[in-house]
Amino acid sequence: MLAPIFRLRPMENLVEARKITKIYADGTVALRDVDFQVRPGEVMGLLGENGAGKTTLTKIISGLLSPTSGTIFWKGKAVRFSSPREALQAGIGMVHQHFALVGPFTGLENIALGAEGGGLLSPVKLKTIRTKVEEIMSRTGLHAPLDAPVEELPVGVQQRIEILKILFREVELLILDEPTAVLTPQEVDELFAVLRNIAAQGKSVIFITHKLREVLAVTDRITVLRRGEVVGVRETPRTSVEELAQLMVGQELGVLRQKEPRERGPEVLRVEELVVPGPAGEPAVRGISFTVHAGEIFGIAGIQGNGQTELVEALVGLRPWNGRVELNGRSLAGLGPAQIAALGLAHIPEDRHGMGLILDMNVTENSILGRISAFQGFLGRLRWASAQRFAQDLIARFSIQARGVRAPARSLSGGNQQKLVVGRELSKSPRILIANQPTRGLDIAATRFIRELLLRLRDEGMAILLVSADLDEIFELADRVAVMYRGTFTGVLPAEELDREKVGLLMGGLSLEEARG
Ligand SMILES: Nc1ncnc2c1ncn2[C@@H]1O[C@H](COP(=O)(O)OP(=O)(O)OP(=O)(O)O)[C@@H](O)[C@H]1O
Ligand SMILES: [Mg+2]
Repeated sequence: MLAPIFRLRPMENLVEARKITKIYADGTVALRDVDFQVRPGEVMGLLGENGAGKTTLTKIISGLLSPTSGTIFWKGKAVRFSSPREALQAGIGMVHQHFALVGPFTGLENIALGAEGGGLLSPVKLKTIRTKVEEIMSRTGLHAPLDAPVEELPVGVQQRIEILKILFREVELLILDEPTAVLTPQEVDELFAVLRNIAAQGKSVIFITHKLREVLAVTDRITVLRRGEVVGVRETPRTSVEELAQLMVGQELGVLRQKEPRERGPEVLRVEELVVPGPAGEPAVRGISFTVHAGEIFGIAGIQGNGQTELVEALVGLRPWNGRVELNGRSLAGLGPAQIAALGLAHIPEDRHGMGLILDMNVTENSILGRISAFQGFLGRLRWASAQRFAQDLIARFSIQARGVRAPARSLSGGNQQKLVVGRELSKSPRILIANQPTRGLDIAATRFIRELLLRLRDEGMAILLVSADLDEIFELADRVAVMYRGTFTGVLPAEELDREKVGLLMGGLSLEEARG
């Protein structure tokens, strides 16, 4: 094909993927003949079910993976980036599904790290960098503290630092892989304002999400992937939640099963005056009391970073605490995670990568984590055949997309990794399940699947403690709701007595009386 010598029209596409196919080493075809374009100054949404190929496509565009065949055009020229660094130099930056900040370093140091000449963090250099970062913050409206170690910051704030780190490199294309999964509604609105600002300055954004309302709120156009192929490109003002869901799934979704009122059973978990120390010696949980009963979902709502993580980690035996905690009348004082699990507690952790899975192990190994003894035979030898049957069963029951029971957990898409953890924990038939953000990162169908499953387990008499920053989830599932703010509950109410506005006020720290008034 002859390339035009003179370009008379303005640049049509900032980036274009033409006939991209990606086959992973194990033979998985993640993308097939994908055509995808992003124009300058445009926010492009990228939608698709778990495993559809969204991350793969954007990793190819950002130089982290190379395509098996096909070409990427950047500003009209065919390019082949051999590393993310090269793509970044060209002007493409990506914030990943699981981000990569260096915990003990400050926001500023993290931004400086990897930036050109930023290897040596001399005070003079840091000062120049700070000035520039502050300029970016005021231009985009994206603000974050620069002097605190990032590990002490809530996830939402860490994410802003990730984005600042990319914007600092003067990118023209910013790729965000499920950035809102960890954000509160208010943070989402703020992020959207930032994205609109970035687009208004002529830069482009690729925005991956599972939330259709979000994609309609912030994008100009939307590309939908299904099983590695593009099934539609739509102008945002000319499409709808229904059309997008239909495109993604390939069929219409039925209605969500409704929560039926149910008599709650006997008390399973009792927590009294629980105090959990936080990072800086300050308590993260300041004297909380509550009970969870069989056949009930007790929901804890709240903006992330108000002590929910510490509360859960204390209950499952991962953190020291003071006060009283009893599971079926037995004190949990002094017990470790394995002992507590043996008493009938299962846990879907918030951080599926850090705590939920061992990425280098395969699906079978991950599926029996925490219950290996059930698969040990004579002299403690692992009964592989039965472990593999078990993994096979999990894959089938939870519709986990994996190449097989021997596929490494790392090779599963984000959402499928999560289904594996959820499935494994639920299959322990626990007395009480602590579910921390159980559907974060899951696609519509998988989210619905998990939520219906939680409702069914509740109906069957399981006690469930649900921690979620997603108000839809809280309202769909919880029988009673506590709102957590700065380490305490600002209110505990039956779900019928709640509405979004009231919960919003409680989440902001108002007391029950004030929120009622
Ligand atoms: N390193 C790998 N090796 C083999 N297969 C892989 C690898 N990474 C991804 N895959 C497979 O490629 C397909 C696309 O995965 P990808 O991560 O791009 O999906 P996704 O659309 O981002 O999904 P999610 O919404 O769950 O994040 C999936 O079937 C996944 O299992
Ligand atoms: Mg992904």
